[in-house]
Amino acid sequence: MTERITKSMAKNIYYGGGMFALLIFFGLTFDTVKQIPERSNEIAMSHSVVAGKALWEKNNCVGCHTILGEGAYYAPELGNVFQRRGASDESTFKGYMLGWMAAQPLNTPDRRKMPQFNLNEEEVNALSDFFIWTSKVDTNEWPPTIEG
Ligand code: HEC
Repeated sequence: MTERITKSMAKNIYYGGGMFALLIFFGLTFDTVKQIPERSNEIAMSHSVVAGKALWEKNNCVGCHTILGEGAYYAPELGNVFQRRGASDESTFKGYMLGWMAAQPLNTPDRRKMPQFNLNEEEVNALSDFFIWTSKVDTNEWPPTIEG
């Protein structure tokens, strides 16, 4: 006798399989959301970090740069600029940032230019704090190279 799948068996497979996949989906979503506060290190999100993020948006830095991969591909990735240009030392990096922002635009021939934003010291330091905070987000080691 050949075995056949009856309509009700097919229905059970459909609903049972669907429920099973949904449960896995919700479980993994819950697990991811639960990890966010620790991975993003949100406890270190000071007023200065928030102010830096606001300046990042107001000046449309993302119109040329990427940050953790999001943004435009005209200029370098800045998610790890703290390690790249500050050797992971806060005062070295803040000094570098003040110099870099003040020196724009560098008129080096055949090199892309970054505009002058005329930001004051406090604003540049806030941007530095934002980059320092971003560099400490647990991104599973992304970006893969120090050059972005
Ligand atoms: C019009 C495009 C443009 C905008 C907008 C822009 N940048 Fe840039 N930025 C560049 C370019 C191009 C470079 C690379 C210049 C070079 O290497 O000579 C650069 C480089 C940098 C670097 C050095 C990165 C490195 O690895 O050496 C920092 C830091 C930086 N930008 C910060 C900012 C911040 C902060 C803002 C917003 C306030 C901003 N940029 C907005 C084009 C831009």
